[in-house]
Amino acid sequence: MPRYPAPPVFRTPADFRAHLRGLGASFDLDDSILPAPSSPLAQPFKLRSGRTIGNRWCVLPMEGWDCLPNGAPGENTRRRWLRFATGGAKLLFGCEACAVMESGRSNTRQMTITEETAPALAALLADCRRAHAEKFGTADDLLVGLQLTHSGRYSHPHDDAKLEPVTAYSNPLLDNKFGCSAANVVTDAEIPGIVAAFGRAAALAQKCGFDFVDVKCAHGYLAYEFLGAIERPGPYGGSFENRTRFFRECVAAVRAAAPGLEVATRFSLFDMIPFEKGPDGIGRPMSIPGVAGPGAYPYAFGGDGTGLAADPELREPIAFLRLCRDLGIELVCTTIASPYYAPHAQRPAYFPVSDGYLAPEDPMTGVDRQIRAVAKAKAAMPEIACVSAGLTALQEYLPHVAQRLVREGLADFAGYGRMVLSYPDLPSDSLRGIPLEKCKICRTFGDCTTAPRHGIVSGCYPLDPAYRTSPAAPLVRACKFKA
Ligand SMILES: Cc1cc2nc3c(=O)[nH]c(=O)nc-3n(C[C@H](O)[C@H](O)[C@H](O)COP(=O)(O)O)c2cc1C
Repeated sequence: MPRYPAPPVFRTPADFRAHLRGLGASFDLDDSILPAPSSPLAQPFKLRSGRTIGNRWCVLPMEGWDCLPNGAPGENTRRRWLRFATGGAKLLFGCEACAVMESGRSNTRQMTITEETAPALAALLADCRRAHAEKFGTADDLLVGLQLTHSGRYSHPHDDAKLEPVTAYSNPLLDNKFGCSAANVVTDAEIPGIVAAFGRAAALAQKCGFDFVDVKCAHGYLAYEFLGAIERPGPYGGSFENRTRFFRECVAAVRAAAPGLEVATRFSLFDMIPFEKGPDGIGRPMSIPGVAGPGAYPYAFGGDGTGLAADPELREPIAFLRLCRDLGIELVCTTIASPYYAPHAQRPAYFPVSDGYLAPEDPMTGVDRQIRAVAKAKAAMPEIACVSAGLTALQEYLPHVAQRLVREGLADFAGYGRMVLSYPDLPSDSLRGIPLEKCKICRTFGDCTTAPRHGIVSGCYPLDPAYRTSPAAPLVRACKFKA
């Protein structure tokens, strides 16, 4: 079993840097965490709309599989959002995936925005702003969005154990992995109904008071799957123009239904071939002899034709960012691939999730892949404000790297995802010059992903006392043990 030395092994930033150099990583880190106002992460960011975001920390969208059956926030949802809002980050990029319609719910407890749930969302948003202002003096420089999505291939609207996929095209490897067929491909005639749902959802989000909506185009969900639909016939497949049509129509529907509302997007800069657990437990690329496999995987948007994405040149992704600019989108929260079939790349970790595999590479190689990608995107499209992701595996060195990224202009915002579940106050502590609380640093155990894969609410079971002592904690341990 491969064992990779995790960040705490390196006692100083210089030791950690030497390790990164040994791996050939492209990124560097600062030697100390700088407090405000000297930290690059303390600098405000002015959007073209005139709004100012108070600093360069961003909470990445993190869903909890814990809403009420109708999709309204539950108690755990409320606690999570309030922790997002009071951690010190001034950009909450979407908070969590919120389904635009029932058929697009990834699980039976996914947040869903409807006339019925909107009042509860509005109240929660208002509480978040109030709590932020109480702690930091003002919420005028806090930007909060709502992530709108249709879960596509990964939809389970009625039963968490029953996949009801809505796919953009037949992908031989993904169809095989998830038991889908050509019958699951959404028809051209069904698309306008989904597009209209994005518009309705955006109008409700605007009424709730969100500053923007994130039209999610990432992680293999429906809008993203269209980007790889090279073999789909008709107006939504084939050419780049056709493959981006669904996204463009969703943005147009949002603009028409919610005039004046900012639109942003969570965007996987490139996709990868699906991975599976090999006989040694280590992740390896899937293949179907004679059909698709490493070296011949044409479906990965933005890749190099192999699906392995060693260092893709991002020709189409940059064209997508240009399209975003032309559609008036300024904020893009970058990510890569999908947690369903390339978890080691999407959320680099030292420990596997229960339905995953042992890491096939040093997690720092995974962190580097995302940093290289966001840096390339930013360099090619400086007018897009880019958020970086995939940094949690850096653990105690996350702030050192985040500072460096922002100072060097490789990204405009440092996003933190899994770390926000264990240590929401990391931005506030680091900007105040308070030593980090080691006992809250995410060690990438993966329980926040393992739990929902078994129908259990997500949270930080190892480190957050509210989850560690919850009745669900032994169930999560049992799932890990079984795996
Ligand atoms: C439990 C969990 C929930 C997540 N929920 C969402 C989500 O709702 N929307 C989204 O775009 N990404 C979601 N992600 C992905 C994160 O936003 C982020 O890209 C990923 O965790 C890598 O960043 P990190 O290294 O800081 O954790 C989720 C990840 C985890 C582990």
